[in-house]
Amino acid sequence: MLSIVVGGFFGDEGKGKIVAYLGLADKPAIAVRCGAINAGHTVTYNGRKWKLRIVSSAFISKNTELLIAPGALIRLDVLFKEMNETGTKGRLFLDKHTGVIELCHVESERSNSFLAGKIGSTLQGVGAAMADRVLRKLRLAYEFDELKGMVRKVPDTVNEALDKGHDIIIEGTQGTFLSLYHGTYPYVTSRDTTASAFASEVGVGPKRVDEVIVVFKAYVTRVGSGPLDGELSFDEIVRRGWCEKATVTGRVRRAAPFNIELARKAAILNSATQAAITKLDILFPETQGVTEWGKLPYKVRKWIENIEDAINTPVTLIGTGEDVKHIIDRRRELGFLK
Ligand code: IMP
Ligand code: MG
Repeated sequence: MLSIVVGGFFGDEGKGKIVAYLGLADKPAIAVRCGAINAGHTVTYNGRKWKLRIVSSAFISKNTELLIAPGALIRLDVLFKEMNETGTKGRLFLDKHTGVIELCHVESERSNSFLAGKIGSTLQGVGAAMADRVLRKLRLAYEFDELKGMVRKVPDTVNEALDKGHDIIIEGTQGTFLSLYHGTYPYVTSRDTTASAFASEVGVGPKRVDEVIVVFKAYVTRVGSGPLDGELSFDEIVRRGWCEKATVTGRVRRAAPFNIELARKAAILNSATQAAITKLDILFPETQGVTEWGKLPYKVRKWIENIEDAINTPVTLIGTGEDVKHIIDRRRELGFLK
């Protein structure tokens, strides 16, 4: 079974936690990370915290093979640092066509006042490397001696594993409205960030995708520039306890209440089969650590059911705390698991 996890807003919805949980709960044979190192996915498990920019958040599932998509972009230093921090040497592989961001890309973005100023880019060199790739001059993984022994044919591995009936997770990055095609252009990232794009980054066709899980946070955040409906003042963000710092850049995230209209659009653009909502405990502190649907207060269940109706998609996973295990998994009761 193939599942794709994507962000439903502007990134930082908590995809890392959801993918880590799916890793632990389902023990997939393979998890494939897409996107690039501008994304930061946070995993908190058993009192430890990892901030991952390129290794799949499913790494906490010890027997899951971790792949990096041909459409993804890495940086060598980030890759090796995370491989060490996660202890995943020997089960972490990339595709020969995975792109490599080099110093020149980072430098060219840092001195680009349009990206640094107007767009509020993370300045990790991702857009510059994408541009070089489109111009057919980016260097790819197979050209680097440091990566010898870590290079696999990711599309073959994934399609063959699916033929054998194995479970696979594709971990998308950023969020639907940062998509180069479907987002708030020009205030977007340098790739499409919807489910179809991540399938394409890996090398699986749309007919092979079984589940698309779109992840929303209980409120909306955005780093960098661009429209944010219902944006709250900094004081109000602090008062509500919604103040967050970006994983990669350390910038304070802008915030707004949950946006049902955006969520509805995201469900459609990704053809979501399931939705996840994270950080419910920040909106409703009484839900902290709850792991059963029936133990949520009536008004909270109503709040979630109202979203389900509006987006025409069942909410199967609900985050109620930082730890991977702080989650309500409704997949069985809703008929998604045998
Ligand atoms: P870039 O993709 O780094 O050039 O950044 C373009 C825009 O996307 C900026 O507003 C960034 O803050 C935002 N962005 C890029 N990656 C992420 C992410 O992983 N999470 C949240 N925002 C992101
Ligand atoms: Mg993030």
